[in-house]
Amino acid sequence: EWPEKVTIKEVGPRDGLQNEPVEVPLQDKVAWIDLLSEAGYSYIEFSSFVHPKWIPQLKDAKEVAEMISRKKGITYAALVPNRRGLESAIDTDVDEVSVFMSASDTHNKKNINKSIEETYPVLKEVVQEAKLEGKSVRGYVSTVFGCPYEGAIATDQVARVSECLLEMGIDELSLGDTIGVANPRQVDQALSEWKQWLPFDKLAMHFHNTRGMALSNVLVSMQHNITTFDAALGGLGGCPYAKGASGNLATDDLVHMLHQMGIETGIDEEKLKEAAIYIQRVLNKALPSHQMQVINKE
Ligand code: HMG
Ligand code: MG
Repeated sequence: EWPEKVTIKEVGPRDGLQNEPVEVPLQDKVAWIDLLSEAGYSYIEFSSFVHPKWIPQLKDAKEVAEMISRKKGITYAALVPNRRGLESAIDTDVDEVSVFMSASDTHNKKNINKSIEETYPVLKEVVQEAKLEGKSVRGYVSTVFGCPYEGAIATDQVARVSECLLEMGIDELSLGDTIGVANPRQVDQALSEWKQWLPFDKLAMHFHNTRGMALSNVLVSMQHNITTFDAALGGLGGCPYAKGASGNLATDDLVHMLHQMGIETGIDEEKLKEAAIYIQRVLNKALPSHQMQVINKE
């Protein structure tokens, strides 16, 4: 049984660009996001309101939010780690904010400078405040299939952290294979267990393609009735505080596979290609997706 339709949430402007060694000029970022807005997405995560010392690539989040042409029907979202970030996000009138934490205590400390226990009250306040402002909230849990510092992460640990976020009132939960270590059998087993604890109608999966297993992991997830996936155009991406976390699942590869399978995404492959070629030119390097490898040979 395959789904008829899948929702793809584009995280390239955030997860992609945060891991690029070069800072993309503001004008180019805005032009790229505007191209993405024309491609048929319903959701674009455009930046992060985090400390610019930690992620200098996204220090212009406010300007990006103000300069992009927001299209009706698209949710424009940004990451916020704390109250300070939320205030900036609200000032720029984003549609949705994403809070994030890790299932691994060590990764959480490296990423946001707090233990898991210290993070809960911070995020609880952010979720409450965001809701009062009428914003929907997404919650990410990172390193759910493995951590670069702690190794294997137990499925019940992931469920515990996720349940805490759900109790705070998040509208969607995105489970992240931050360093791209998950294999399809592991995803199948983990999802079978999480099914007992987590509401699958609120679940999105966030795979990185570090070891080339992201698309296979999507297939397994679809078999568990998951129909929302995060992806970054061209396979950009990673996490600067997770060694080896290169390359999100490539949106263009995912869209191609789904369309070949007769599964709708609402995304226009030609427009996607235009947007991918644009950001490839700006970054001045060949993007790693299979679709772009084909295009680059033409
Ligand atoms: P901290 O140093 O512990 O913060 O950083 P603090 O609260 O002690 O404040 C220190 C200073 O930072 C203060 O300024 C604050 O005002 C300022 P000072 O008084 O010294 O001048 N500050 C801020 N400035 C701007 N924006 C803010 C902000 N907050 C405080 N929001 C902090 C804690 C969370 C801020 C920091 O660790 C941080 O910014 N981390 C960002 C980490 C990040 O963005 N990681 C990548 C995203 S997660 C990811 O990629 C995984 C995901 O893709 C899923 C997956 O793959 O699994 C989502
Ligand atoms: Mg990620």
